[in-house]
Amino acid sequence: MRPEILILGGTTEGYALAAALADHPRFTPVSSLAGRTSSPRLPAGESRIGGFGGPEGLAAWLRQRGTAAVVDCTHPFASRMGWNAATACAGLGLPLLRVERPAWRPGPEDAWDEVDEWDQAVERLAALGARRVLLALGRQDLAPFAALDRVWFLIRSVEPPEPMPPFAQAEILLARGPFSAEDERALLAGRQIDALVCKNSGGSATDAKLAVARELGVRVVMRRRPPRPATPTVATVAEALDWLARTLAD
Ligand SMILES: NC(=O)c1ccc[n+]([C@@H]2O[C@H](COP(=O)([O-])OP(=O)(O)OC[C@H]3O[C@@H](n4cnc5c(N)ncnc54)[C@H](OP(=O)(O)O)[C@@H]3O)[C@@H](O)[C@H]2O)c1
Repeated sequence: MRPEILILGGTTEGYALAAALADHPRFTPVSSLAGRTSSPRLPAGESRIGGFGGPEGLAAWLRQRGTAAVVDCTHPFASRMGWNAATACAGLGLPLLRVERPAWRPGPEDAWDEVDEWDQAVERLAALGARRVLLALGRQDLAPFAALDRVWFLIRSVEPPEPMPPFAQAEILLARGPFSAEDERALLAGRQIDALVCKNSGGSATDAKLAVARELGVRVVMRRRPPRPATPTVATVAEALDWLARTLAD
């Protein structure tokens, strides 16, 4: 039987790795999604949806399946799953790899305000005197921004906030990336946005807003990535395939 690889997914990299392993001659993928969105796209090959029940639940699942290796492709801002995977794999002596796209870096012409917490982003917006702000940070972390009752917010998310925090002035824009520079220019200029708030997700699907912000003089408040365990890490799916071939050599 081909060794089974658990892919912790929900990201572009997770889908791409599942597709690459689905008809792989040596490995069989099983993808895991957290189940946050109501009708998620299913990865190629077998998949399962929902939490495992912490590191212990994940370890029990891995033992029961006889999994050969785990590849953590979760989003850079999924702050818990990587730690759970590190604990479970260390306990079982299982190989674990992290696939993480590189963070965006400011260029010489960028003036980003980088923060570690959303409360700091709220403080930065107040200090900047921002009046019309694009929140491009998903729908989970909106509540702290509702304190700014003199700011008009454009909230862009894939699904509606549930519940909607008590914003004084806000509009919701339901949209899923990728977003082109042309679309971002039309949005930022058309809505007279003076600051945008986002997280340093990295990747090319949602980076157009940064170039357009630079071009239009829109301030960027950027949340840095959360800390991660010291897991071997690669940036691409191709490197992950190489790692699997080397690590699970016959
Ligand atoms: N946070 C973001 O900005 C973001 C953006 C795009 C996609 N995503 C994807 O959405 C998922 C959830 O994000 P999050 O920020 O809530 O993660 P998180 O804080 O790291 O995880 C919270 C809990 O959700 C469960 N979980 C997370 N990822 C899972 C997976 N792939 N399969 C099964 N259970 C999973 C785990 O529950 P148990 O402890 O019960 O196992 C985990 O303890 C991740 O898979 C991530 O790749 C997140």
